[in-house]
Amino acid sequence: MKGPIVRMSGVGMWVPERVLTNSELEKMVDTSDEWITTRTGIKERRIADEKTTAADMGARAGLAALDDAGMAPEDVDALIVATATPDRLLPATACDVQAMMGAKNAVAFDVWGACTGWLYGINIAQGLIGTGQARNALIIGTEKLSSIVDWKDRSTVVLFGDAAGATVVVPAATDGRGVVATYMKSDGSLGDLLFRPPARGLNPSIPIDVVALGEGGNTIKMAGPEVFKSAVRSMCEAAEIALKDAGLTAGDVDLLIPHQANIRIIEATAKYAGIPMDRVWVNIDRYGNTSSASIPVSIYEARACGRIQAGSVLLLVAFGSGFTWASAVVRW
Ligand code: UT7
Repeated sequence: MKGPIVRMSGVGMWVPERVLTNSELEKMVDTSDEWITTRTGIKERRIADEKTTAADMGARAGLAALDDAGMAPEDVDALIVATATPDRLLPATACDVQAMMGAKNAVAFDVWGACTGWLYGINIAQGLIGTGQARNALIIGTEKLSSIVDWKDRSTVVLFGDAAGATVVVPAATDGRGVVATYMKSDGSLGDLLFRPPARGLNPSIPIDVVALGEGGNTIKMAGPEVFKSAVRSMCEAAEIALKDAGLTAGDVDLLIPHQANIRIIEATAKYAGIPMDRVWVNIDRYGNTSSASIPVSIYEARACGRIQAGSVLLLVAFGSGFTWASAVVRW
């Protein structure tokens, strides 16, 4: 097996201070702490205030990751932002983040991979660095999901939260540490199971018609149980393929870091992969589903509390709207 092309040299995160608990949601929609906890594992999530944009959050996480890597904003060659909640449709959120951070020497662009976007970004960065087009990359997952949920829809509003996470990747050394395997996949034929209609309806030449968009306007629509089944199937597949590609088995994995969408999806993936829950990172109870931010935030927290050390083997797995799914094995 050839050695890794890139390694992660810095990690950062940023979450809003405002905590929204299940008991507060009980007063907003017809739900209960008991339902949310048992069906999803979520106890609370963070909600950004009106003035805080996805770009603001991403820039803060990005600066923290650069600081951790010992780099300045001007050092960044490629700035990749994964988001499903851009503040505006033009320009790319990455360009807004670039301006906020002062990363003036970078090429900046977005990746639309929903919850899988940050892992797609890692793959793209690996390609850019592997072909010599960039010396380093800052990959940010930032989401202000509170701005696109239907606050009257109990089936989705309880699930999502706001957060940003970021990592710096640089060329790997020859010590075997770094991103040792990656896998990416998509299936656009299932796009209608989890989507967000455009503000002007599906035909942009037709004037805004909230009725045509259905209840809740252009907010997230999800066929929960169908998405659940695909998420489990795809994450299990992705975990298996990346591990095999890395020439490793479940016993070699120090920490499985799955996208945090539902504790039951996390448990099913871990069980299929043969990894006991004491080697699985879970923070969905505190943040809910933060889409593309969920894995970099998890990496940050796991390292901060000592669960990731030099040489630790991580298995990263994500799934999201598209459908999209991906995985990576990292020797830290
Ligand atoms: O980020 C990547 C993509 N997202 C996911 O991977 C999410 C995947 N899906 C899920 O996590 C789960 O399907 C949900 C958490 C969204 C829903 O859980 P479920 O166990 O699949 O519930 P369900 O949709 O089958 O609904 C069961 C019942 C329904 O009531 P009836 O028809 O049985 O009377 C729902 O109306 O639960 C009801 N329900 C709720 N009850 C209380 C749905 N949402 C709520 C709620 N509070 N918030």
